[in-house]
Amino acid sequence: MRKPIIAGNWKLNKTVSEAVKFVSELKEKVGGISDVDIIVCPPFTAVSKVADVLRGSNIRVGAQDAYWEEEGAFTGEISPLMVKEAGCSYVILGHSERRAMFGDTNNTVNKKLKAVLNAGLTPIVCVGEKLEEREKGITKDIVKDHIQGSLHGLKKEEMSEVVIAYEPVWAIGTGKTATPEQAQEVHAYIRELLADLFGGGVAESVRIQYGGSIKPDNIKNLMSQKDIDGGLVGGASLKVDSFEKLVKYREG
Ligand code: 13P
Repeated sequence: MRKPIIAGNWKLNKTVSEAVKFVSELKEKVGGISDVDIIVCPPFTAVSKVADVLRGSNIRVGAQDAYWEEEGAFTGEISPLMVKEAGCSYVILGHSERRAMFGDTNNTVNKKLKAVLNAGLTPIVCVGEKLEEREKGITKDIVKDHIQGSLHGLKKEEMSEVVIAYEPVWAIGTGKTATPEQAQEVHAYIRELLADLFGGGVAESVRIQYGGSIKPDNIKNLMSQKDIDGGLVGGASLKVDSFEKLVKYREG
């Protein structure tokens, strides 16, 4: 059984004080939940304080990116070890916004992935097609390219530590969620790709999150799909009430 994993990707939102207030409230609301992995991914500036508030709780902290070098002259970058010591146990990699706006490619995601695994952190590797790619009927080609390129050279035992997030770019921040069937089709395809690359056992154990306009009123149907194991949530993770509802999706 794959344990559901719901992560809030806060993107460029919340100052340190706002982040601390948020997680202090969230901790009270979801404290009793042990059958869902709950993660918040604040901006780097808030990671350390958020982790202090959440220490000993059932909520883990993730970073939104990390560079592949351990240290050196890389102005503006941050290493896996730095985010780990600041309190992260997860790192989002290859988000479509980073691929589109900040130069991330399969190649750089692959380097970051290896560095993140080396540091003993759990990567969340994002893949997904743009609207024009879906309209051209090449969704699977794009997803295959992202999966093969981003995960290149990983060993089976390393792959078991990885979480995949399928985020169709056309569904991110647009209010247009993929239907549960559309998402399930791609999730099943990703699992096939993983089986080809790493074997059936690994493919069955890897958790695949869906991301793109997840809301409290659509998460239950998405989560009911066989190959959807969780959500990577942007907008709806920014309010305590709605994130609480997402985490408690079974009750919705
Ligand atoms: P929204 O939930 O705001 O569509 O964002 C999804 C996303 O990009 C999460 O990483």
